[in-house]
Amino acid sequence: MDRIAITGGARLQGEIAISGAKNSAIKLMAASLLTDEPLRLTNMPRLADTRFLGALLRRLGTEVEEVNGPDGPQTVLTTGEITSAIAPYDLVRQMRASFNVLGPLLARTGQAKVSLPGGCAIGARPVDLHLKALEALGAQIDLHEGYVYAQAPRGLKGAQIDFPFVSVGATEHALLAAALARGETVIGNAACEPEIVDLADCLNAMGARIEGAGTPVVRILGVDRLKGATHAVVADRIETGTYALAAAMAGGEVRLTNTRTDFVESLLTKMEEAGVEVERRADGMVIRRNGHRLAPVELTTDPYPGFATDLQAQFMALMTLADGESVIRETIFENRFMHAPELMRLGAEVAVAGGEARVKGVERLTGAPVMATDLRASVSLVIAGLAAQGETTVSRVYHLDRGFERLEEKLSACGAQIRRIRGEGGQEDEE
Ligand code: UD1
Repeated sequence: MDRIAITGGARLQGEIAISGAKNSAIKLMAASLLTDEPLRLTNMPRLADTRFLGALLRRLGTEVEEVNGPDGPQTVLTTGEITSAIAPYDLVRQMRASFNVLGPLLARTGQAKVSLPGGCAIGARPVDLHLKALEALGAQIDLHEGYVYAQAPRGLKGAQIDFPFVSVGATEHALLAAALARGETVIGNAACEPEIVDLADCLNAMGARIEGAGTPVVRILGVDRLKGATHAVVADRIETGTYALAAAMAGGEVRLTNTRTDFVESLLTKMEEAGVEVERRADGMVIRRNGHRLAPVELTTDPYPGFATDLQAQFMALMTLADGESVIRETIFENRFMHAPELMRLGAEVAVAGGEARVKGVERLTGAPVMATDLRASVSLVIAGLAAQGETTVSRVYHLDRGFERLEEKLSACGAQIRRIRGEGGQEDEE
């Protein structure tokens, strides 16, 4: 298995172009099941997760073509016909978001059999809200032997869906399924993440009638059929925030382009509170930090526009070197502090109790071998390694490859001393 080795201490200087959002791209790919015409996605990230979903879609009958367009990578997905409405365990377990093919399969063919998902090891992560939303739309759902069997022989029918709490995946699932349902669907307590808006924009370009995406109430007027479209994947706000934090950790000056500051405002505010200089620009931002120590910060993760849970681990890495005690509260996922013991191997002082971590800043971190446990946790270890004295090696790099496109290349172009050590053998454990 590959490892990433980082020699800490190099300041970063340069520019990083942000890729299209992984979390959006995989839902947009699933949307291609809703039409028999080609869906062309531009600004596509090339990642292990998009490859996983491509493999699943091929199994269902989609032609997936990766091309290089004039302004970067594109994927063209054409599902002339659904040849199988079965998403098997071996493909769905590799990535939780594959579960979102259930709604489109059901909407287009009236039936589907989809394995219950795997996904990152960050808490229980059930799919009950997804299933409730589909049931509200008239689907009949049965669970046997790890599979969801869903049927809607007379098609899906618009309904009122009120989520008890905010779920990104369930909101997206409801949008995908309701686009082809008969009549109007109203989603209450919908997630407001930029990826929801991106999915709604793409579906609308395909002929759907969706209003209110990005607010807690989304209205969908079902249509009989959807057509092909070309859609640019929105910028990856988690990649944006991650490199902003990497620049702050290592020090120096890094410009992030091809992205938007409003997507990461809650992060930028906290970074400024800590003493990092942020210059907001039309196409991104410049992050500057000189050698002074940062101030500690208190933060709580929340649904968008709150502080993103997917940036919590990276922010904790930054706070390990602050001058005082930071308090980080995780409210979205249980068990999402698995990076804490690994950061402690580098010399960080972190005490976790329930959903709260207290991080007592130290003067320096020291390189060590560490192990990634999930996607965002693993990149927090890379960030810590950028400032640790000596060499840090991060193993189980396949977590990083799921969500960060050309990570070593992007960081080393800014002067980071980071390299990949190719290893033997496959993935050690599943997610
Ligand atoms: C998505 C993102 C993930 C991010 C998360 C929260 C993708 C591929 N992943 O995950 O990176 O961390 O949003 O911003 O887009 N829940 C239930 N029942 C359900 C669904 C969710 O109890 O049916 C719970 C989850 O366990 C979690 C919370 O709701 O505690 C929020 O999860 P959700 O917003 O659904 O996250 P994902 O869509 O899985």
